[in-house]
Amino acid sequence: MGGGIAAYKSCELLRRFQASGHDVTVIPTKSSLEFIGSSTWEALSGKPVTTEVFDSVHEVPHVKLGQEADLFVIAPATANLIAKLAHGLADDLLTNSVLMAQCPILVVPAMHTEMWLNPATQANVQTLRDRGIRVVDPDVGRLTGPDSGPGRLPEPQAIEIAAQVLVDGYLPDLDLHGKRVLVTGGGTRESIDPVRDIGNRSSGKQAWAIASAASVYGAKTTVIAANVELPSPVGSTVINVKSALEMADAVDEQLGEADVLVMCAAVADFRPKAPADVKIKKTSDDFVPAPIELERNPDILAAVGARPEADRPLLVGFAAETVTDEAQLIEYGLGKLTKKGADFLVANPVGKDQTFGEDSNSGLVLGPEGIVDRVEKTSKAGLANALFAACREKLSS
Ligand code: CTP
Repeated sequence: MGGGIAAYKSCELLRRFQASGHDVTVIPTKSSLEFIGSSTWEALSGKPVTTEVFDSVHEVPHVKLGQEADLFVIAPATANLIAKLAHGLADDLLTNSVLMAQCPILVVPAMHTEMWLNPATQANVQTLRDRGIRVVDPDVGRLTGPDSGPGRLPEPQAIEIAAQVLVDGYLPDLDLHGKRVLVTGGGTRESIDPVRDIGNRSSGKQAWAIASAASVYGAKTTVIAANVELPSPVGSTVINVKSALEMADAVDEQLGEADVLVMCAAVADFRPKAPADVKIKKTSDDFVPAPIELERNPDILAAVGARPEADRPLLVGFAAETVTDEAQLIEYGLGKLTKKGADFLVANPVGKDQTFGEDSNSGLVLGPEGIVDRVEKTSKAGLANALFAACREKLSS
C-alpha cells in the first residue's frame, strides 16, 4: 500500500481477506508507515513486515512474493506510487515485487482530486491500463480535509468484491473501456402507507458484483439500486430508487447511453392500488384491516426487450426460482428469456438460506439456444465473470 491517509481503511481490507480464508502479506511503502506503523501490520497479518529489498536477502523476498502471489491489491495507490509503477521504477520491496508479479494486479487509487485529474496521473493510469493492470476509478466524496470530489478510496467491502473479480473466473483479456454498463439491483418496495411497504429479500450483492466487474474491466458503470445497504461498488455511479415505477423511470433515463442492461433487481410485479396517505391505524380493539388491492407494475425487462434490436442495448435478465430440479430451472429460465426478449438470462435457484443475502451464488447462463454456461457455486463476482464471458462476443461486435 502507498502512503495516503486512506491507508487506515486497508486494515479492514486485510481483515476481510483473512476472514474469507486468504493468506495475506502486507508490503507497505516507507511513506505509508507515516500513517499506519509496521507493528499494526505485523500484529494484524501475523507476519514480519518490511519496506526493503535488503532485509532477509537470502530469501530474495521480492522474487518470492512476486512469483507466489495469486493477486496483488495496491490500495491506496498514491499519485507517486502510480507514477513509479507506470515507469517501472523499483526502489523498494513493493515496486520490485510488482515488477516480478505473474498474477493479476488491482490498483485502487486515492488522492486529492487535483492530483487524480492531473494529466500526468491520468497518463500514468492509462499506461498501466494498457499493460493489463486493472486500475479502478476512485470514489467521489469527502477527502482528507473539508474538500470533496473524485479521489476517495472505495470502502474495504467494495475493494474486496473488486479483488474477487480478479480471482474467481477472471477474464484477463476482457476490455470494456469505452462501453457503458447499466445494472439494476436490490429489491423494490411498494408502499402500503407512509411507514409500511411490500418488499422482498434481495440484498443487491449480485448486482454489486456485476457492477464491480464491469468497472474492473474498464466500463463506465451505473447501478440503479433499490433499497441496497452496501457501500458503492468500485468505479460506479449509484442511482437510488425505492419502487418499481421509480426504477422503470430511472432505466428509461439511463438507457440511451447503455451498451448493456443487466436487470438483476428483484422487481415487485404488483403494487398496492391505493396506498394510504397517512399511517393505517387500528381504530378499535376488534379492528380488521381492509384487504390490500394490488395492481400490476410495468415489466421493465420486457419493455426494453420489445424494442427493435438496433434500438436497445444487449439485454441480460435474471430469474430467481425456487426449484430443485435443473430441467425445471431451464424451462422457467428459457420461458422468461423468450417472453421478455432478453439476449441472455441467468437462472438461479433461490430459497431459504440460498442466494438472497449470501456471498455465493450458482446458476445457469442461458441464451436463446439453451445453456451457455453452467456455473457451480462460486462468489457472486465469479458469477459476474461468467455473465461477461457469455456477453463478450456480442459486446465486441
Ligand atoms: N423484471 C422486470 N420487471 C418486473 C419483473 C421482473 O424487469 N416487473 C425482470 C427482473 O429484473 C429479472 C426478470 O425480469 O431480470 C425475471 O424476473 P422474475 O421476478 O424472475 O420473473 P417474473 O416475470 O416476475 O415472473 P414470476 O414472478 O412469475 O416468476
